[in-house]
Amino acid sequence: MRVPRSILQLLSLTVPVVLSVSAIGADEKPMMRAVVAHEYGAPEVLKLEQVQRPEPNEDEALVRVIASGVNPADPLTLSGKYAKEFGTHLPLIPGYDIAGIVEKTGANVTRLKTGEAVYGYPTFGGGWADYVTVKEWEVAGKPASLKFVEAAAVPMGALTAWQALVDVAKLQPGQTILIHGGSGGVGSFAVQIAKARGARVIATASTANQDLLKQLGADVAVDYTKTRFEDVAKGVDAVLDPVGKETLARSYGVVKKGGIVMSLVELPDRAEIKKREIHGAAISVHPDANDLTEIARLIEGGKIKPIVTQVLPLSDAVTAQQQAMTHHTRGKIVLRIADEPKS
Ligand SMILES: NC(=O)c1ccc[n+]([C@@H]2O[C@H](COP(=O)([O-])OP(=O)(O)OC[C@H]3O[C@@H](n4cnc5c(N)ncnc54)[C@H](OP(=O)(O)O)[C@@H]3O)[C@@H](O)[C@H]2O)c1
Repeated sequence: MRVPRSILQLLSLTVPVVLSVSAIGADEKPMMRAVVAHEYGAPEVLKLEQVQRPEPNEDEALVRVIASGVNPADPLTLSGKYAKEFGTHLPLIPGYDIAGIVEKTGANVTRLKTGEAVYGYPTFGGGWADYVTVKEWEVAGKPASLKFVEAAAVPMGALTAWQALVDVAKLQPGQTILIHGGSGGVGSFAVQIAKARGARVIATASTANQDLLKQLGADVAVDYTKTRFEDVAKGVDAVLDPVGKETLARSYGVVKKGGIVMSLVELPDRAEIKKREIHGAAISVHPDANDLTEIARLIEGGKIKPIVTQVLPLSDAVTAQQQAMTHHTRGKIVLRIADEPKS
């Protein structure tokens, strides 16, 4: 049997390449490259393999992935600790952020068209591959002004920020919000979305990221390694917390009565909420094509831009996961999966 050229090309890549007998044997079915985990664990369990290309169901589209973003959710899923909550099972292909081109559509798909450039968030991941299947409500038209590699940095981070600030806090012009981790994947979008809504933004990050907070539009940048945020933020309308623990515990006291503390990582403390007569919310992001369309509008209007600080090849998936686990990523890391199509 002839070994496909793409498999031979893989032999020079840095992630261990596993060629399963079944993969080579299934020569009638189209194959693709994918980063796969056959067991839960550390980033090192990921292998770059040839696997069978997925086929879209009647309510799905098949997307040829050009780039896929990296999120702290990827190593979390890979750990297996939250398999029930994330709805994941083995073998697992990470990748919650995608930008690509619709390759084909199922019979019941009405909005998406073959050849259309899309970006989005497949609910169960799978983006670190040449192809992924998506539901219509998981993707929207890619912002035309962004390269695919930039668009892939947007979905999960921007959706989380949007759903917290717009849907939950209903942030209004003139209100003040404290955004912890303003330089990170979620925070960098939250700062820009809050500014676009006319809010005043106090954002925190470490010393190295103070410049980024200002560049994103924060009115006040707080270096949490030098200054206690409570000394700067007082009586704010809302707090967005992607950090948890002590940062969350100290946040209740800076919110005015009737304000809200939103955490991405913990359930807010009920006793604190009640005592201070504030609201609390644990944010849980979900894919939403309408939200993605709104976010694309803000991008096209020049109000939001993704901060892509590193672009890695698919073969560097292990490195990408390790970086995501540090919780100190500046902006976003993106995996490039295919060449940027010529427009
Ligand atoms: N619940 C949900 O639906 C949901 C959705 C998305 C993400 N998340 C979770 O939210 C968290 C953040 O996600 P992300 O994508 O933004 O992560 P990220 O890209 O790793 O960013 C983390 C940010 O936190 C900052 N940071 C770290 N320690 C800090 C501290 N003590 N005080 C203030 N800032 C601090 C870092 O800035 P420096 O490097 O300058 O320290 C960095 O900017 C992750 O745990 C992720 O799993 C939850």
